[in-house]
Parts: sequence; C-alpha cells; structure tokens
Amino acid sequence: MKLMKTVLASAVAAVGILAGGAQAADMTIKFSHVVAENTPKGKMARKFEELAEAAVPGLDVQVFPNSQLYDDSRVLEAMLLGDVQIAAPSLSKFQRFTNKLQVFDLPFLFDDMAAVDRFQQSEAGQSLLNSMEDKGLIGLGYLHNGMKQFSANEPILTPEDAAGKKFRIQTSDILAAQFEAVDAIPVKKPFSEVFTLLQTKAIDGAENPWSNLYSKKFFEVQDYVTESNHGVLDYLVVTSASFWNGLEPDVRDKLNKAMNEAIAYGNEQSADLAARDRQAIIDDEGTKVVQMSAEQRQAWVEAEKPVWSEFEDDIGRDLIDAALKANQ
Ligand code: SIN
Repeated sequence: MKLMKTVLASAVAAVGILAGGAQAADMTIKFSHVVAENTPKGKMARKFEELAEAAVPGLDVQVFPNSQLYDDSRVLEAMLLGDVQIAAPSLSKFQRFTNKLQVFDLPFLFDDMAAVDRFQQSEAGQSLLNSMEDKGLIGLGYLHNGMKQFSANEPILTPEDAAGKKFRIQTSDILAAQFEAVDAIPVKKPFSEVFTLLQTKAIDGAENPWSNLYSKKFFEVQDYVTESNHGVLDYLVVTSASFWNGLEPDVRDKLNKAMNEAIAYGNEQSADLAARDRQAIIDDEGTKVVQMSAEQRQAWVEAEKPVWSEFEDDIGRDLIDAALKANQ
C-alpha cells in the first residue's frame, strides 16, 4: 500500500515536471503518535494524511501510530532534531517547554468538554498555541480526546479509596500532585507501558479518557472504572518552528488548511467515540463502571484544592480565571 502510494506520488511528480507545472519539491512529513487508529487522534492523523497529500503534489505524509516511531517522552526532542514533523502529544506532556499548558491538568477545573472547547477557542486559549515558539515548537491547534476516568481493581469513589494505591500518570507535576493530595502514589510512565504495568499489577490503577481505556484494552485489566470526569486529556497538535517557518508560504497555507480540517474532523468524532467506547466498557462483563455521589465528588474537590494553590504562580491566575470562565 505504502509502496503503491510512493509510486503514485513519484508518477504525479513526474507528470508535473513533464508538463512544466510548478511542483512542490518531494517532501516527507512524519506524523508520530502513541494511540490506536480508531481514536480521535488516529482518525485525525489519517485525515491530515489524505487532505495534505491531495493538496500538495509530491508530499508523502507518513503516519506512525501506537508509539511505533517514538513515545511521547522522546517525540518532541526528535521533532526539534528534524526527525519528526508533526505530533500531537497530550497537553500534559509539555511541562518542559511551558508552564502555561499545565492549566489543563488542574483537577476538577472544567465541567465538561464543551467548557474545555470554549476555553481552547477563547483568546487566552489561542494565545497558548504560540507559547513555545521561542523553544522551537508551534502549536497548530487543539484536538479533543475527552474527560479522564479513574480505573483500578477496587472502586475509587472517595479520596480515601485512592490512598496508598499506585497510579500511572503522564509526565506532569500537577498530575503527580493530584494523586499525592489524596496520599496515593503517582508513577510517571510512558503510555506504551500502561497495559503491562496494569496487567502485572506493578501499579494499581490509572486515569484515562474512555477512548484510551477501550482502544488500549486497559479496561480488560481493571475491575472498576469510576466515571469521575475529574480532568481532561486533550492534545496539542505541534510542529517544529524551523520546519514550519521554512516551508514555501503557499505550501504552508495548504498544510495549515488541511490541518484545520483534519482537527475539526477529529474533534467532531471525539464525543461519539467517547460515548461508543464508554458503552462498550459498560457492556463488558468483567469491568464495572461506578459513579461518585455528589458528596464523594465534593470530597475530591476539597482534597484537590491545595494543588491549585501550589501551581497558581506557575500557571498564572489570569489563565486559571479564563479557564474557569469557560464553565459559565
Ligand atoms: C495519548 O492519548 O496520546 C496518551 C496519553 C497518555 O500518555 O496517557
């Protein structure tokens, strides 16, 4: 299939040259990500491949899903070295580059995905796309996955239920503080290791959106999922400033348009995918989906308040207020 695509791309380029048409130089864009194909990110990446290749003759977009090329701990360095051109790490994975995006990690900040979307599209949210340009990274847009749910082999309903248990987290100090606030033990590990860590009981639990819980089969090695919606797992679609700014302006415009359309497509699918995967996990006999009562949820909110104070100066009060405003 890939060979066929390469042959076709070469043929199209050759026809253009013979016809004397202006061809973009043959170019390869590697898009590396860590999730499965049947997820908002997997679908968005394939849509970008389709749209970008149709818009730019001679372009070969190569999508590498499932951490085949890089996991998220290395992909941004690889991008800065020019080995990867596009990635879409979770917003929790940019702490080395900016404190601002950490706003998305504050527990119990957003009421729902509509609020997340409103904040991302607001002036404050859009300004974050360029917050890492001095470090060599440009944000091309936000992509949704969804709200996170706790999972473990026992129901996690109160902060006390989490105490003493080991939870896998992404590389975010706020997520570490979120679990430490309830005397749980956060374990920073790459996404590609989560299934084995859960299966071997090296850790007790994790936090994931429905799409990741289902597509990576984490639910099969967890007896309980708590519908906690306690935080968000969304993505920043990112490229390197040297790659992006070095493109011919008309090629950059076409890629930008293809990316905006691909992100819109991924975002349109995200709610349906979350609902589908949630239902599939509810229907699975081996996993029980449980709900917190209003009192139990309030106990979590109270327990997590110190995390907000701890990180307020790093993130900036204005940004936290702008995010909170999106709940109204
Ligand atoms: C992803 O959805 O890209 C993975 C997030 C994680 O590491 O949990």
